[in-house]
Amino acid sequence: MSAQALQVLVLEDEPADAELELAALAEGGFRCAPTFADSRAAFEAAFVPGRFDLVIADYRLPDYTGLEALEHVRRQDPLVPFVLVSGALGEERAVEALRSGATDYVLKHGLARLASAVRRALEERREHERHLATRKALELSQERLRALSRRLLEVQEQERGRLARDLHDDIGQALTALKIQLESLARCAGSSAARILECAETTRHALERVRQLSLSLRPSQLDDLGLVAALRSHLDRQASIGGLTPNFDAAEAPRGAAREIETACFRVAQEAITNVLRHAGARNLWVRLFSVGGRLALSVRDDGKGFDLDSARRRGAAGASLGLVGMEERVALAGGTLELRSVPGQGTVLLATFPVQPGEKEGFR
Ligand SMILES: Nc1ncnc2c1ncn2[C@@H]1O[C@H](COP(=O)(O)OP(=O)(O)O)[C@@H](O)[C@H]1O
Ligand SMILES: [Mg+2]
Repeated sequence: MSAQALQVLVLEDEPADAELELAALAEGGFRCAPTFADSRAAFEAAFVPGRFDLVIADYRLPDYTGLEALEHVRRQDPLVPFVLVSGALGEERAVEALRSGATDYVLKHGLARLASAVRRALEERREHERHLATRKALELSQERLRALSRRLLEVQEQERGRLARDLHDDIGQALTALKIQLESLARCAGSSAARILECAETTRHALERVRQLSLSLRPSQLDDLGLVAALRSHLDRQASIGGLTPNFDAAEAPRGAAREIETACFRVAQEAITNVLRHAGARNLWVRLFSVGGRLALSVRDDGKGFDLDSARRRGAAGASLGLVGMEERVALAGGTLELRSVPGQGTVLLATFPVQPGEKEGFR
């Protein structure tokens, strides 16, 4: 069969029986390198995890039983194939043996079956090991993916913050200076004053756009004043753009959430609010920050037209729309939970919870 000899540990106090067992294996095509043990002490001294491909054990010995040997082996090695061989094994004992982790059992007067039992046991073990290896590789790649996503979000936040500051500080200040200069120029410009004031107005408009852009990239309030202030003013701004009534409640928001948690919560709220503006056709928008079991909770609710979650999820999975997927990803990476409820015609509610400090588990991390 295989080129390498099978390392077999044989627990048997009758040398003739041990010979018969090996002969049955040879008959079935196995080349074996046996180690013999005829007592508890010999068996337990010989067994070392990883050293044997197979254990064959007699059911009853003067100072030991096959089941005790099985227990000894399983404590150290859950996988090595273990075949019990017995003169007569009642059905109950056979079931007990299999339950205790024996791979198979063979009767001494039916040793012809030993080789096929061993072949099956070895194949099962290989299959099991392949399965374990695949699962390990999958876990590893999931872990890598999570690390990558986390890093990506961090870098994205940093980059947005830098852009927001540059827009606000450099371009914003240059435009402010330009506007002031134009206004002062207009005061002594005589007949051209009206046109210069128009330029000042255009500049004011550009300044406002830059301010908006800077805020939506990363509101400075998030860093300076925290989540509650940033979310309140984001909601007000967006509601006034979308022409709907904002309702904000943060009376019971927990204090002292970590900065990255506040960022995650803000980004989820931002996406949910954008969705309400873009899709819901709502009149009211409620945003609430509160505390649930020591965690930070966010709810965003609208009284708009609602939607079918399953079909939106399918589109999301196909890459057609990434807002919901992105929210789920961000919440999961922060160790949070996310629940969305929507009924066509009856509005939508999003509920997310986050640990106050990163790493306080619930969901995966
Ligand atoms: N508050 C909401 N009201 C109505 N429909 C919504 C709401 N939020 C999401 N949707 C629906 O779910 C879909 C998926 O949302 P999302 O993943 O954010 O993608 P996108 O906003 O880019 O279309 C939207 O296209 C929309 O049909
Ligand atoms: Mg969206």
